[in-house]
Amino acid sequence: MSAKIISGTEVASQIREELKQEVTALKEKQGVVPGLVTILVGHNPASVSYVTAKQKTAHELGFHSIQDDQPEDISEENLLKLIDKYNNDPKIHGILVQLPLPKHIDEKKVLNAIDPDKDVDGFHPVNVGRLMIGGKEAKFLPCTPAGIQELIVRSGFETAGAEVVVVGRSNIVGKPIANIMLQKGKGANSTVTIVHTGTKDLEAHCKRADILIVAAGVPGLVKPEWIKPGACVIDVGVNRVGEKKSEKTGKMVPILKGDVDFDAAKEIAGAITPVPGGVGPMTITMLMKNTVKSAKLAAGLA
Ligand code: GUN
Repeated sequence: MSAKIISGTEVASQIREELKQEVTALKEKQGVVPGLVTILVGHNPASVSYVTAKQKTAHELGFHSIQDDQPEDISEENLLKLIDKYNNDPKIHGILVQLPLPKHIDEKKVLNAIDPDKDVDGFHPVNVGRLMIGGKEAKFLPCTPAGIQELIVRSGFETAGAEVVVVGRSNIVGKPIANIMLQKGKGANSTVTIVHTGTKDLEAHCKRADILIVAAGVPGLVKPEWIKPGACVIDVGVNRVGEKKSEKTGKMVPILKGDVDFDAAKEIAGAITPVPGGVGPMTITMLMKNTVKSAKLAAGLA
């Protein structure tokens, strides 16, 4: 039987609708308007398109949103000063510095300069620590892992006691999603294994997974026969494997493939996310959710 397709596009749109209502109520009843600044250094085309999409969504939800473009050659000192300005701006509840940054800037230094209470990306060490402690301590979950958990929960999969196998150990996806799924509480409480490039028998681990989360960045890494029949498969890979002409615009657009062979895997899995249209749309939505939470916390409403 063919797997249920978990549409990130649909879930993201549902959550955005919920957020829109929440933002309207916050504005009308409390006079609170969530504020988000996205800082883009240089003109990396992928970064430009991500930041544009983030701003568009923030605008649609009724946020106070600022797109702050900085030249490629901005000094680290000036970038840190800019962050400080937004740290001290009460209208701004979320600060996002789009990564990667140019080589002359120390990325870690920049991320660490963001006020942890405005770190809606969830990358600051304080928020990484808060996530690790879990429960009420966790403030801003990083957006992609938060989106993954939301997809699993909303697709009705039982996470308590489930064998969750995470392929990949990045700071942005692998490590945080493993941490999220092992916390005690709703939508988690799983038995978690992280596998990576140093793992001896990747296949054996994947075959045990009730929930398989793949964030390796290697197209087709997970073979269909590695999937346990009926498992929930979350494919975080977005790999550009070529180009094609868009039917809509006639322009050349990238061909994207996941880390899992979707067509074959969907005949074995119980549920699976497509690429594109799976995890991708959730990331921006969770950024918006974090910004609303930050605004509520700043106003003493959460
Ligand atoms: N670059 C690619 N993904 C992300 C993200 O989630 N946050 C930031 N700040 N930069 C990114």
